[in-house]
Amino acid sequence: MSNSNAVVPNDLNAFWMPFTANRQFKKSPRMFVAAKDMHYTTSDGRQVLDGTAGLWCVNAGHARPKIVEAIANQAAELDYAPAFQMGHPKAFELANRIVDIAPKGLGHVLFTNSGSESVETALKVALAYHRVKGDGARSRLIGRERGYHGVNFGGISVGGIVTNRKMFGSLLTGVDHMPHTHNLKQNAFSKGLPAHGADLADELERIVTLHDASTIAAVIVEPVAGSTGVLIPPPGYLQRLRDITRKHGILLIFDEVITGFGRLGTPFGADYFGVTPDIMVTAKGLTNGVIPMGAVLVSAEIHDAFMGGPEHVIEFFHGYTYSGNPIASAAGLATLETYKDEDLLTRGAELAPYFEAALHSLKGLPHVIDIRNIGLVGAIELEPIAGQPTKRAFAAFLKAFEAGVLIRTTGDIIALSPPLIVEKSHIDQIVGTLGDILKTLE
Ligand SMILES: Cc1ncc(COP(=O)(O)O)c(C=O)c1O
Repeated sequence: MSNSNAVVPNDLNAFWMPFTANRQFKKSPRMFVAAKDMHYTTSDGRQVLDGTAGLWCVNAGHARPKIVEAIANQAAELDYAPAFQMGHPKAFELANRIVDIAPKGLGHVLFTNSGSESVETALKVALAYHRVKGDGARSRLIGRERGYHGVNFGGISVGGIVTNRKMFGSLLTGVDHMPHTHNLKQNAFSKGLPAHGADLADELERIVTLHDASTIAAVIVEPVAGSTGVLIPPPGYLQRLRDITRKHGILLIFDEVITGFGRLGTPFGADYFGVTPDIMVTAKGLTNGVIPMGAVLVSAEIHDAFMGGPEHVIEFFHGYTYSGNPIASAAGLATLETYKDEDLLTRGAELAPYFEAALHSLKGLPHVIDIRNIGLVGAIELEPIAGQPTKRAFAAFLKAFEAGVLIRTTGDIIALSPPLIVEKSHIDQIVGTLGDILKTLE
């Protein structure tokens, strides 16, 4: 009688992979066994150029010496310290270093272990803030269509991706959504910010009128929506959201899990757009993707609102066993040092014009219906095969991998976000490979 738990070494069956076509993968696995700087090594010994910085997180490139060393040393020195009612110096040091590079006014940091946890933390801070101020009727959360805020219940509730929502019941109540800003008709092949659509921010006024401002706690948006295919806001759009939220006493949350740590050529998206939110959600690039960690930055006004009452009482009933974990903190500190040593938080700005010109050279190739870019993020949108959405882009992904370049696809959109150490020759290779592949796609 076979035991359904029995596995043979290297059996692929037990691991139910995340956001993966499991059956397709297990028939034809794609495995990385090593990585250095801009390249992975596959299990069959090939070099694959990282066109996506892992999952938008390995901003300094792979296996960077300072980070590797910091993790090893920290594991030997202090592997773990309880996160509640105890501390260790590196978590405080990292919080300070993050505040140093953050937009002015965001002076306090809560640590998490992922972007999804950072989102939940931010939403809970927003709700609790209004409550401690005696304004607990403000319980509604406003997200945006095509927004991605991770996979936990708060995140999928404010998020706007139907496949991530439809299986999971009624989600959080009291959530509404603004429209997304993606507009192929008017904005296709825009370089940088697309010209049309700033007025979509006024949809927030409509939502405020519908529910009344006194019921709304916060609005959450990604400055540039990454996971649904690099949706870039029109000029003035985010400023308008800031103006409307401020006018109505609503907190503005920027989910900078992708746009944080240099992706747009500035330390944060808030810097790129000159708009400072009340709460900023980060993860990914904070530790160069090496150790799971996220950070939520909040304004002094929010933090200070919690600091009343008897001093022996916990001010905010929230946190994780691994909040500010010593090894993650060491990785974060070494990552921020690496960014500083190599000016990586602004390097994207220098390379952006080259990246833009290279990407837009693909205009006119078969199936390409849009190309867009900002900083070191780009997207190539393909016409879907009729009745078979995602199939064409997935074929491009598989062909690119075979040809030695890792790209990412979402729907029928190819997204590119190379590590910030990328050289022009790498950009040429990515775009050259894509150009060849696009000509061969069904
Ligand atoms: C904007 C945004 N928020 C949240 C998340 C979730 O992060 P994680 O996968 O670390 O939970 C992501 C991940 O891609 C993201 O892009």
